[in-house]
Amino acid sequence: MTALGPCAWPPAPIGTERLVLRESEARDRAAFIELFASPEVRAHLGGPRPCAELEEAVPEVPGRRPGVFVIAVDRAMIGTVSLDRRDATRPGQVREGGGDAELGYVFLPEAWGRAYAFEAWPAALTWFADAFPGEPVVLCTQVANDRSMRLAERLGFAEAARFEEYGAVQWFGVRDPGGSVLASRHGDGDAEADHRESADASDQ
Ligand SMILES: CC(C)(COP(=O)(O)OP(=O)(O)OC[C@H]1O[C@@H](n2cnc3c(N)ncnc32)[C@H](O)[C@@H]1OP(=O)(O)O)[C@@H](O)C(=O)NCCC(=O)NCCS
Repeated sequence: MTALGPCAWPPAPIGTERLVLRESEARDRAAFIELFASPEVRAHLGGPRPCAELEEAVPEVPGRRPGVFVIAVDRAMIGTVSLDRRDATRPGQVREGGGDAELGYVFLPEAWGRAYAFEAWPAALTWFADAFPGEPVVLCTQVANDRSMRLAERLGFAEAARFEEYGAVQWFGVRDPGGSVLASRHGDGDAEADHRESADASDQ
């Protein structure tokens, strides 16, 4: 995975009304394993992994890299929100040369339906906007992942393309507050054109 790039990390824990966004710690390991092993969480992410395999593979302090926030309620981890660089060889790129910052998010099923992700994302995106001013953020989610798509649209990600990857139709969204990146690509910020280009390419 490509590193996010130079930034001050870890930041001081970020508090929201109900949550704390912080760097991961050794005590979060069980929750990381639960996330990887959960059929619900992994339904659109390649399926669950066996616990025994995870116990072997997951490091003592998982998810310790710049851009990965553990989301905690009363000190207990309920999920993660992360910003990583999207591999330039994958479909769905907005910046010249690729390497867009991509938002990732996984929450334990018992935390769903309470708007925790809705509350955590803006805090993580504000951190990113301070660390990497003017950069857009992308996200990619299966069209079948309706919770994820609803959240993306409510939090200001605009559809820029749909394409097939990993045997499923993917929704590729961009959050470009200044509008500068999409505008410079299309001359007029036409995300629909991006969508059409991608649809044409997938017909080849
Ligand atoms: C994607 C995921 C984070 C969405 O979780 P979520 O709980 O639906 O999202 P939120 O935290 O924003 O909560 C929104 C829900 O809270 C409800 N809600 C309750 N109070 C609310 C409030 N004050 N404001 C907004 N929504 C509120 C909403 O109605 C919504 O539920 P609904 O979609 O059933 O109507 C979660 O399903 C998940 O972790 N999935 C597995 C991992 C995954 O697929 N990640 C995507 C990777 S591409």
